[in-house]
Amino acid sequence: MPSYDVVIIGAGPGGYVCAIKAAQLGLKTALVEKRPTFGGTCVNVGCIPSKALLHASEKFAEVAHLADLGVEVGKAKLNLAAMQAHRTKVVKQNTDGLVFLMKKNKIDTYQGTGTVAGKGKVAIALEGGKAETIETKNIVIATGSDVAGIPGVKVEFDEKVIVSSTGALEFDKVPASLIVVGGGVIGLELGSVWARLGSKVTVVEYLDSILGGMDGEVSKQFQRMLAKQGIEFRLGAKVTGVAKAKKGATVTFEPVKGGDAETLTADAVLVATGRKPYTDGLKDAGIELDERGRVKTDGHFRTNIEGVYAIGDVIAGPMLAHKAEDEGVAVAEIIAGQKGHVNYDVIPSVVYTSPEVASVGKTEEELKKAGVEYKAGKFPFTANGRARAMAATDGFVKVLADKASDRVLGVHIIGFGAGEMIHEAAVLMEFSGSAEDLARTCHAHPTMSEAVKEAALAAWSKPIHM
Ligand code: NAI
Repeated sequence: MPSYDVVIIGAGPGGYVCAIKAAQLGLKTALVEKRPTFGGTCVNVGCIPSKALLHASEKFAEVAHLADLGVEVGKAKLNLAAMQAHRTKVVKQNTDGLVFLMKKNKIDTYQGTGTVAGKGKVAIALEGGKAETIETKNIVIATGSDVAGIPGVKVEFDEKVIVSSTGALEFDKVPASLIVVGGGVIGLELGSVWARLGSKVTVVEYLDSILGGMDGEVSKQFQRMLAKQGIEFRLGAKVTGVAKAKKGATVTFEPVKGGDAETLTADAVLVATGRKPYTDGLKDAGIELDERGRVKTDGHFRTNIEGVYAIGDVIAGPMLAHKAEDEGVAVAEIIAGQKGHVNYDVIPSVVYTSPEVASVGKTEEELKKAGVEYKAGKFPFTANGRARAMAATDGFVKVLADKASDRVLGVHIIGFGAGEMIHEAAVLMEFSGSAEDLARTCHAHPTMSEAVKEAALAAWSKPIHM
């Protein structure tokens, strides 16, 4: 029976990063994955393919505005098959890259469904009904998450007309109309893709705002920008039924505050109402779950069984690839006897729409709720020279700092390139920096990032260009 220092179940961004770090630290490592390719949801049917389509559809939509810059190219013509080929090519480049990285780091890989078969044992159900058991000192559960569906509503996904995020990547024809159930990250990113390519998109959301949990001011402006792009919103609307129709599908919803139910019909329906941890077989293995069905850990990724750890979407915290990656590194370090740690106060989050929305740290709403006295500094991209030069003046930067100490507690950006700009705020916050630190850091001119500096100036003292 093969024997390891650590066996990781699940090769998503949490699992494969954990495997690489463990191998780098000198541990004999194996990675078990049920899909034929590595990378999990993120690389195969999530982050990476959606970004391929987001980028391509953004370019498509941009053509209509190029004449404003003096570039006349005529009307953009969509070749959806070629766009989809770009998506699949990008996914393959990434999954091939992971095969290379596993070999380079001498990580043994097993294709099959892995389960914890007691302390120090992982059973793998291989292709063709065969099974194999491997021995290990440590097990890391990194099984990720799956589409949650709508609680209390029966949704029959056929991935053609009624689709999850997976089917919404694979349309071979632009649906003339698309209803998106859920105004969260997936709904708004994939809704944007198809709206740009010509679909009439309606988002039906339970809450009174989109991207619940985001800074309220950002969420409001963002909704206005998306509405300008042609996306319609039905907020405060609880979806109670999704059904196939003769042509397309119907979505029935009722106002959360009470009133008559309404039914809309569209060519396709995307249900994007969250994800649930993938914990099949874990209860039988004696692993404790919390009240929300996630693997219970002790804050250091340890489960209730000695030598069994868990990371990523399957445990508490934001379901984000980069959170899982950092946990993968931390748990590998802990297993190797080091002090692995993740700073959950500084995990950036990005919505890859146009413009992008990015944030790190606390929102104003969270600070108010916690009774923290804070200062807010805001700077709009309309006052930034580079943004004007690029005709990308939508949005603003907001820096929130502690009133007494000036320490930065949160940064929120809506605007072109927000997803890249947010990281200077993350680095600053990782070092407990102040608004003054950020404001006194020389920023190259002309850049969009100068708006970050100006917002910090606004929080600490006064902005220069406003
Ligand atoms: P989400 O939790 O972000 O949004 C789901 C939305 O559906 C919520 O606003 C919720 O109020 C709404 N909803 C739930 N039940 C409803 C009902 N019956 N009627 C109407 N609305 C209803 O979940 P989403 O967008 O599915 O994403 C899943 C996970 O994947 C999230 O944790 C997200 O952070 C992550 N993700 C992150 C991305 C990124 O970082 N760019 C991209 C895609 C996904």
